Amino acid sequence: MTILTVDGYRPLAKARLDPHVWDYVDGGADREQTLADCAASFDGYRLRPRFLVDVSRIDCATTLLGTPLAGPVGVAPLAYHRLVHPDGEVATATGTAGALFVVSIFASRTIEDIAQAATGPLWLQLYWLRRKEILADLATRAEAAGYRALVLTVDTPRLGKRLRDMRNGFAIDPAISAANLDAEVMALTRDAPPGQSAIAAHALANFDQSVTWSDLAWLRSLTRLPILVKGLLTAEDARLAMAHGAAGVVVSNHGGRQLDAAVPALHALPEVVDAVGGTGVVLLDGGVRRGTDVFTALALGADAVLVGRPVLWGLAAGGGPAVAHVLALLREELAQTMALAGRPDLASIDRTAVLRWS
Ligand code: FNR
Ligand code: LAC
Repeated sequence: MTILTVDGYRPLAKARLDPHVWDYVDGGADREQTLADCAASFDGYRLRPRFLVDVSRIDCATTLLGTPLAGPVGVAPLAYHRLVHPDGEVATATGTAGALFVVSIFASRTIEDIAQAATGPLWLQLYWLRRKEILADLATRAEAAGYRALVLTVDTPRLGKRLRDMRNGFAIDPAISAANLDAEVMALTRDAPPGQSAIAAHALANFDQSVTWSDLAWLRSLTRLPILVKGLLTAEDARLAMAHGAAGVVVSNHGGRQLDAAVPALHALPEVVDAVGGTGVVLLDGGVRRGTDVFTALALGADAVLVGRPVLWGLAAGGGPAVAHVLALLREELAQTMALAGRPDLASIDRTAVLRWS
C-alpha cells in the first residue's frame, strides 16, 4: 500500500500495537477535549495565497539556535520509543535525516547510543525530578554526547488523568526501561490494577511539584547548553521563561495529555510570539499532521514545529525508514504549500499568509 499522507500511518500503527500501548500513545486527558482541539485548531485558519511570485526554488531549510536543520519540522520528546519498536530511539534517530530530534528523559535507549545513531541534531528533554542529581548527571552527559539544547517540560507537575490508561491499568513492560534513569525511578511503572495508571503513580512519586521559575537558575548553572521551556500556553509564562534565561519556548499542551480544556497551542501561539518578541525561538507542537498545518504555525510566528504521535505511528509501522518518510511527507507538503501560496522561503511566511476562519 502506498502511504500518501502522515495520517496513512495511523491505522498501520494501530493494527500493530498492543491495545494498551496504542491507547497510551493515542489518548489524552479526561474527556479528550484538548486532544480534539489540537487537530481542529488548524481548521480555524485558511491560507491567503499570493501569485506571480517566483516559486521555482522552494527553500525549507532553517537554523535554530545556531543549528542548521533540513526543515522546520522536528520530533517532539516522546517517552519509551521501545514500546512501539524493538530498537526504540536508535531506530528513530536513523530516520531523522537532518531534522531536529528532541529526546525524552524517558528515552528507552541511552542518550549516547541515540547520539551514535543520529542523522540529525539532538536536544534532550527533562522533567524536574525530585532526585536533582539525575538532572545534573543528564545535563553533563548530554553536553558530552553532543546534544545542543535542553528542554524543560513544565506542564507536568503530575500526569493528566488519562482515562484510557486508567481503565487499562497501563504499566510499562519490564523489558522496557528509561535507559538513562535507574531502577529506583522506574520501580512504580511496572504494575497497576485496572482503574489506575502505573505511570501516573510513578510521576506522582518522582516529579517535584514544588518547582518554580526561580529554580531555572540552578538548571542553567549546570550547563552551557541553551535551555528551552516546553508546555507553556500564555504570554505571561513566556515572559517569565525569557526573564529567567530561557533561549526559547515550546508552545504546547502536551498533545492534550495534561490539562484537559487547555487552550490549543496554535491559538496560544500569537500571544507567545509577541511576548518573546524575537528574544528567543518559539516552537509549537500538538496536532501537526499536514504541510498546511506547519505553514499555518509558521505564519503565526513559530520558528519550527514538533510532531509527536505521527513519529510513533511511523516507527511502529516501518522503523527508521518510515520515520524518515513521515518527516519527508511533512517537508514535501510544506514545500508544496509554499509554492502554491507564493511564499518561496520561510521568511516570506508571515501573518498575512493566513486568515482566521472560525
Ligand atoms: C508525549 N509527550 C511528551 N512530552 C515531553 O515533554 N516528554 C515526554 O516524555 C513525552 N512523552 C510523550 C509520550 C507520548 C506517547 C506522547 C503521545 C506524547 C508530549 C509530546 O512531546 C508533544 O507535546 C505532543 O505529542 C504533541 O502533540 P502530537 O504531535 O502528538 O499531536
Ligand atoms: C507522557 C509523559 C511521559 O505524556 O510525558 O506520557
